[in-house]
Amino acid sequence: MIYGKYEETLHLVMDQITGELSEYNEKIKKETGDGIYEHLLARVKSEDSMLEKCVRKGVPQTPESALRIMTDSIGLRVITRFRDDIYQIIDYMKGLPGVQVVAEKDYIRHAKPNGYRSYHMILDRQVPYEDVDGQNPGHYYIEIQLRTIAMDSWASLEHQLKYKKHIKDPELIGQELKRCADELAGCDLSMQTIRNLMREDE
Ligand code: GTP
Ligand code: MG
Repeated sequence: MIYGKYEETLHLVMDQITGELSEYNEKIKKETGDGIYEHLLARVKSEDSMLEKCVRKGVPQTPESALRIMTDSIGLRVITRFRDDIYQIIDYMKGLPGVQVVAEKDYIRHAKPNGYRSYHMILDRQVPYEDVDGQNPGHYYIEIQLRTIAMDSWASLEHQLKYKKHIKDPELIGQELKRCADELAGCDLSMQTIRNLMREDE
């Protein structure tokens, strides 16, 4: 097993943060009537995927590689209805006990050239368990992607198309996809504005 004796801890660390997010969602729901996210996905990267990634990156297939070189053994994806909710969740996560931000990329304000939008963040979390360096409290990485439903639907379609081998005119398809991404981003902004207007009336 590539995670060695740390596999159980990975699940504990993942369950802790998903529990916190879910509680936060319930709290916001009580206050405003609406949840802060639409849904939340969490996974510990499968053994096969992690082994394959080690080969791809040219590092040994060890717990040290999986937990120190790779940062996505624990992965979360948070899907929101509105763009502002993403930034509110980010603030909440940064304030959680034992959390340090290792890296973040705002592909929402700075979309990738192909149109991809999402907020990526890597956290280092201190937890009351041993880590791969033998420290206790230990440190575990958590990779998080945050996106709206619109951004997610685009990413899902684009991901599917990436694996289609024989596309006739890949350049045209790329252009059209980019146009869709930009239109969806416009819709996200409009819907954010609509919600803000509705909340003014409350
Ligand atoms: P980061 O984006 O900071 O992780 O940099 P990186 O160079 O490691 O990017 P990577 O290609 O690893 O992207 C990380 C994850 O983001 C991927 O596994 C996808 O889930 C998602 N992602 C990034 N770019 C795209 C994209 O163009 N299209 C889709 N559908 N997903 C993407
Ligand atoms: Mg990455």
